[in-house]
Amino acid sequence: MTFANCYDDVSRASAYATLEFANTYYLAFRDIPRILSEHVTGTRALDFGCGTGRSTRFLRQLGFDVTGIDISEDMLRIARSTDPSGDYRLVPGDNFSDLPAASFDVILSAFTFDNIPAANKARIFRDLANLLSPPGKLVSIVSSPEIYTHEWASFSTKDFPENARAKSGDVVRIIVTDHQDQRPVEDIVCTDESYRAIYRDSGLEAVQMLAPLATGDEPYPWVNETKIAPWIIYVLKRK
Ligand SMILES: C[S@@+](CC[C@H](N)C(=O)[O-])C[C@H]1O[C@@H](n2cnc3c(N)ncnc32)[C@H](O)[C@@H]1O
Repeated sequence: MTFANCYDDVSRASAYATLEFANTYYLAFRDIPRILSEHVTGTRALDFGCGTGRSTRFLRQLGFDVTGIDISEDMLRIARSTDPSGDYRLVPGDNFSDLPAASFDVILSAFTFDNIPAANKARIFRDLANLLSPPGKLVSIVSSPEIYTHEWASFSTKDFPENARAKSGDVVRIIVTDHQDQRPVEDIVCTDESYRAIYRDSGLEAVQMLAPLATGDEPYPWVNETKIAPWIIYVLKRK
């Protein structure tokens, strides 16, 4: 299957750079500080699929020494100009050989695996696992399959009823309503069952899985977020 990374695009990159931690995105990041303090010792972090640097700056503000990596130069250019003292690197073909093996206390992947075809996921997880220090953890935030069949404070999928028929590994479409670029984003839907099989193939084991819901007390215009989890967070370790 040929699947183009829709973030390899100057206008998508500048629209994406305006996103912060509001609305549905709030739920993706809300529990991360607690997860990191419970599961991670040490401060060396890798942000896989750092994009325009939102997730990297989030980790930096928590005190981590972070390297951000991505395959989109358009996204990285904005990350570097927003955060000139940060370390942002292009990794063509997800070749991680320039990164120190077995050295990161935590690898965060925020939404990146939503954009990676099923056939490539296991190889990339395995190569990321090799970058973890022995007790290191990989924290992967991904879209739940339900995000593609419901409406949300930050997203709309009502124009894509075919998403409901998508099987794990299929392309699905979603519009980010929080920013200016209203072109649909193409993602790859992936079920929990598929992720578990991929982790087994990659030498990883899930030590925790979270499906964050809103309480209803947050200052955001929730649509389904109090009832259905838009995101799944996996905390993974090497087997
Ligand atoms: C939805 S953005 C998330 C950016 C950032 N993590 C954040 O939270 O704002 C997904 C990013 O993953 C990157 N990406 C997609 N496939 C990738 C791959 N195979 N390797 C590294 N980065 C990838 C895209 O270029 C894009 O910047």
